[in-house]
Amino acid sequence: MLGPMIPGVWRINVFLLLIFMFSNASGTYVGVNIGTDMTDLPSPADVVALLKAHQISHVRLFDADRRMLTALANTSIEVMVGVTNEEVLGIGQSPSKAAAWVTKNVAAYLPETNITAIAVGSEVLTTIPNAAPVLVPALNYIHRALIATNLNFQVKVSSPQSMDVIPRSFPPSTASFNSTWNSTMYQLLQFLKNTGSYYMLNAYPYYDYVKGNGLFPIDYALFKPLPKNKQIIDSNTLFQYSSMLDAMVDAAYYSMKALNFPEIPVLVTETGWPWLGGSNEPDATMGNAETYNNNLIRRALNNSGPPSQPKLPINAYIYELFNENNRPGPISEQNWGVIFTNGTSVYPLTLGTSDSNRVNASETGLFCVAKPDADPIALKAGLDWACGQGQANCSAIQDGQPCFEPNNIYNHSSYAYNDYFQRKRSSGGTCVFDGTAMTTAINPSRGACIFAGSSGSGGETLPPPAAAGPTSPSSKGSVHQISWTVLFPAILIALVQL
Ligand SMILES: *[C@@H]1O[C@H](CO)[C@@H](O)[C@H](O)[C@H]1NC(C)=O
Ligand SMILES: *[C@@H]1O[C@H](CO)[C@@H](O)[C@H](O)[C@H]1NC(C)=O
Ligand SMILES: *[C@@H]1O[C@H](CO)[C@@H](O)[C@H](O)[C@H]1NC(C)=O
Ligand SMILES: *[C@@H]1O[C@H](CO)[C@@H](O)[C@H](O)[C@H]1NC(C)=O
Ligand SMILES: *[C@@H]1O[C@H](CO)[C@@H](O)[C@H](O)[C@H]1NC(C)=O
Ligand SMILES: *[C@@H]1O[C@H](CO)[C@@H](O)[C@H](O)[C@H]1NC(C)=O
Ligand SMILES: *[C@@H]1O[C@H](CO)[C@@H](O)[C@H](O)[C@H]1NC(C)=O
Ligand SMILES: *[C@@H]1O[C@H](CO)[C@@H](O)[C@H](O)[C@H]1NC(C)=O
Ligand SMILES: *[C@@H]1O[C@H](CO)[C@@H](O)[C@H](O)[C@H]1NC(C)=O
Repeated sequence: MLGPMIPGVWRINVFLLLIFMFSNASGTYVGVNIGTDMTDLPSPADVVALLKAHQISHVRLFDADRRMLTALANTSIEVMVGVTNEEVLGIGQSPSKAAAWVTKNVAAYLPETNITAIAVGSEVLTTIPNAAPVLVPALNYIHRALIATNLNFQVKVSSPQSMDVIPRSFPPSTASFNSTWNSTMYQLLQFLKNTGSYYMLNAYPYYDYVKGNGLFPIDYALFKPLPKNKQIIDSNTLFQYSSMLDAMVDAAYYSMKALNFPEIPVLVTETGWPWLGGSNEPDATMGNAETYNNNLIRRALNNSGPPSQPKLPINAYIYELFNENNRPGPISEQNWGVIFTNGTSVYPLTLGTSDSNRVNASETGLFCVAKPDADPIALKAGLDWACGQGQANCSAIQDGQPCFEPNNIYNHSSYAYNDYFQRKRSSGGTCVFDGTAMTTAINPSRGACIFAGSSGSGGETLPPPAAAGPTSPSSKGSVHQISWTVLFPAILIALVQL
């Protein structure tokens, strides 16, 4: 497996991993990794504004960047910090270094910054195998330092592993860790079990699919339903695998079981799909990336585990928030992001959930309304354009219809702008209207006047996003369109020019 998503061992660049966690009441969530190997990284305050705008509840940093941790203070965002591979070597040989690290990078920020996990190194066994002997000592020293500062119950310690530590992951029931690391793996699992932590797994169906050279159908990698005669079944257990990610997570469970650790939960610390690649990377497309990440969210939030562990939900972190244009390697390597740094979404992400206690669409969605101080003449022009050429459905603001009152240019323009915006934004429609419009997270609906994009606006069907993923199989769940068109910098002004 290529597993190149991991920050290179000797990588010097600061890495921040922010995770958007869409989480539900039962605690299942999907977060997002944020690498920072890029030239135009937004300021920590802007990144946090973006996270908040989307009600993202968890964040992971690849390191423990001071500015980022400070910006995350007093938000309700949960944070995973990282000990870099460079640091693992020193910390694994020195309890005092571990203590200093915890003091400086964790204890200093709690409780204002809600740090809940430390990822010690990244794919250490496969990227710096010579550091294997110090990996578990590093985990232990960090954990002891947490005990000393009384933070051990609050902060979990683990170490993300590549799928490469499992040489043959299919069928899952026969998977086992590469025996080269028997002893390290045994100690690692013992540590995770003793401390009530989880096994951190970086799992990329994209790479397995590409490497498989047609062995697996792409629909399997993308969580799409398979035809009846093409189901993927583990012949030992007769478990049917509806997605490659499920099979990878199960491969980790069976590998742990082979070493007699049957119930350490798996946390998927990285997964995702690149949306752009070189001519020899035909599967790195916008459509595939959109499908993969939307379906991942749907899959995670349905609260079930993989076939062998149906009660252990799959929590996962999407790789990654921004494209990292400075990453070396093939073109796809620089194109895993879901948001451009200017705040525009790369593609729409649809959050589906079966949990009604979750964040609701009218709160997370963005609406487009008239600016209160806009010139009425300019508003009238915008209104006419939206209802005409823009093809907004303006019937609700006609005399006698629910949004006619209050009968003023601001309210009518707001309705029309928003209707246009909700219909067209996935295909490039914007909220600008010659500077008279702005986006807002506040639902402008009043009484019977329901604005498009509200959870109650089911009356009419908006066209699907340009490259829609499969529709949600969930029966009771509603599928919310989340706008990733984000509010950068801070002000809610539309970003895209008409
Ligand atoms: C967080 O909030 C507390 C209490 O309001 C305040 O004293 C502290 O300075 C804030 N921390 C940061 C980093 O903003
Ligand atoms: C931090 O996150 C944990 C886990 O979700 C939560 O239980 C706790 O209340 C949070 N702490 C703060 C101060 O928000
Ligand atoms: C196990 O790991 C070692 C060391 O990286 C490698 O040489 C070997 O090929 C791996 N075994 C399998 C079956 O992949
Ligand atoms: C690793 O553990 C497996 C399962 O317990 C065993 O079959 C294998 O011989 C061990 N390999 C080494 C190199 O110790
Ligand atoms: C959740 O996802 C799994 C795996 O795709 C599927 O087998 C299961 O039926 C789903 N459960 C619900 C309630 O949608
Ligand atoms: C969603 O939020 C809106 C606005 O805050 C509220 O009126 C509505 O009741 C909420 N819906 C649900 C299902 O919680
Ligand atoms: C326009 O919206 C109204 C409700 O405001 C709805 O009844 C009607 O079907 C919609 N027309 C089209 C063409 O979508
Ligand atoms: C509609 O008009 C009222 C005043 O009549 C104003 O308070 C409100 O903000 C307007 N709403 C929109 C979406 O323009
Ligand atoms: C944001 O950046 C992307 C990628 O550079 C670009 O395609 C898009 O047009 C930009 N949007 C705005 C509003 O500048």
